[in-house]
Amino acid sequence: MLSLLLSLSLLASASCTLMPRDSTGYANPATNGGKMLTNAPGTYPAGLGEPLNAIIVGTSDSEVLSLTDSGGLNNYFLSVGFGGECLGVHLGDAQTAALGDGKGTVNQTAEMRWDYYNPGFGTCTETQNGGNHFRYWVQNGTNANTGAIFMAVSEELPLSSGHDIIPNGYNLGRDWFVGNATSRNITTSDYSTSGGTQFSGSTSSNGWTYQTTVTYTTGLLNATSDGINHYATVGVNGQPAIDGLVAVMEVKVTQQGSGSSNSNQSSSAPSTPRIRGATWALAASLLIFFLL
Ligand SMILES: *[C@@H]1O[C@H](CO)[C@@H](O)[C@H](O)[C@H]1NC(C)=O
Ligand SMILES: *[C@@H]1O[C@H](CO)[C@@H](O)[C@H](O)[C@H]1NC(C)=O
Ligand SMILES: *[C@@H]1O[C@H](CO)[C@@H](O)[C@H](O)[C@H]1NC(C)=O
Ligand SMILES: *[C@@H]1O[C@H](CO)[C@@H](O)[C@H](O)[C@H]1NC(C)=O
Ligand SMILES: *[C@@H]1O[C@H](CO)[C@@H](O)[C@H](O)[C@H]1NC(C)=O
Ligand SMILES: *[C@@H]1O[C@H](CO)[C@@H](O)[C@H](O)[C@H]1NC(C)=O
Repeated sequence: MLSLLLSLSLLASASCTLMPRDSTGYANPATNGGKMLTNAPGTYPAGLGEPLNAIIVGTSDSEVLSLTDSGGLNNYFLSVGFGGECLGVHLGDAQTAALGDGKGTVNQTAEMRWDYYNPGFGTCTETQNGGNHFRYWVQNGTNANTGAIFMAVSEELPLSSGHDIIPNGYNLGRDWFVGNATSRNITTSDYSTSGGTQFSGSTSSNGWTYQTTVTYTTGLLNATSDGINHYATVGVNGQPAIDGLVAVMEVKVTQQGSGSSNSNQSSSAPSTPRIRGATWALAASLLIFFLL
């Protein structure tokens, strides 16, 4: 009987170690057969890709990670200034990526474009004139079900130039996304190339407010031009095409909009920011009461 219990508990702990839930909120794709580069179709030479240079981690609030709820991922992207494709029309082939989560190599979930401060038709301007854009994938396969969103961000040239990437366009696209998410102009002098620099700030859309905390992280990508799409034209001043830094972002909801959720999937999760806000308000009014 005892040995049966023992072997059962051994089995249980073994199955736990088989499916780690990373406390960082994401799993490095490379540790499980994936990679931190996308696969872009029709590159020359073949097999080049774009860096997955930003991650929204799975420890972000569940509302943010939801792809269907009204205050979810699309609304968060809107708050940073990005919308879906112009009139829903997608130009060009989808890219694929393997996040090492057991799903193998899959198509991008969606492509989002800078809206030029015009949430209505701004993404059409981006399609025409170029600008910041990104594709993203969800790390939700059974081998690494972290829920993290992996993004390939880059600043592209106008349609007339075939949507190539501008010089330094991967690093700049990432920094401009982070800049819009944290309301500050970020230049290379603001962060260390050895990683660890943090930025934090808030954005709002449709009554929802989000706090984004970004940590520039090394070790996921190398500072390199190897395997990078458009490597020959993207590197500037003798630097490689990418600096190897990944913007690891944790996004929390600090204020919920009035719009109700479309699904109940995430509404079961307690809204900690709201509770925290209420507790602080109570503490503050008690303090004021006693001071008077
Ligand atoms: C992936 O995208 C391509 C278009 O680029 C499409 O032809 C293909 O059907 C998609 N695959 C899946 C599994 O959706
Ligand atoms: C992973 O997320 C995508 C995008 O939300 C969804 O279409 C897909 O069904 C999810 N897969 C799993 C295994 O949950
Ligand atoms: C916001 O994004 C736009 C377009 O990419 C960029 O020009 C601008 O500098 C960004 N703003 C900040 C504060 O980073
Ligand atoms: C970023 O710089 C531009 C140009 O100098 C300026 O117009 C803008 O207000 C700045 N944005 C922030 C958030 O500091
Ligand atoms: C970076 O390059 C080194 C040397 O080529 C390699 O061993 C390592 O796996 C690379 N790391 C990443 C994250 O690609
Ligand atoms: C969400 O849950 C509430 C209460 O359980 C229920 O009345 C409502 O119909 C649900 N909405 C959806 C979209 O499932």
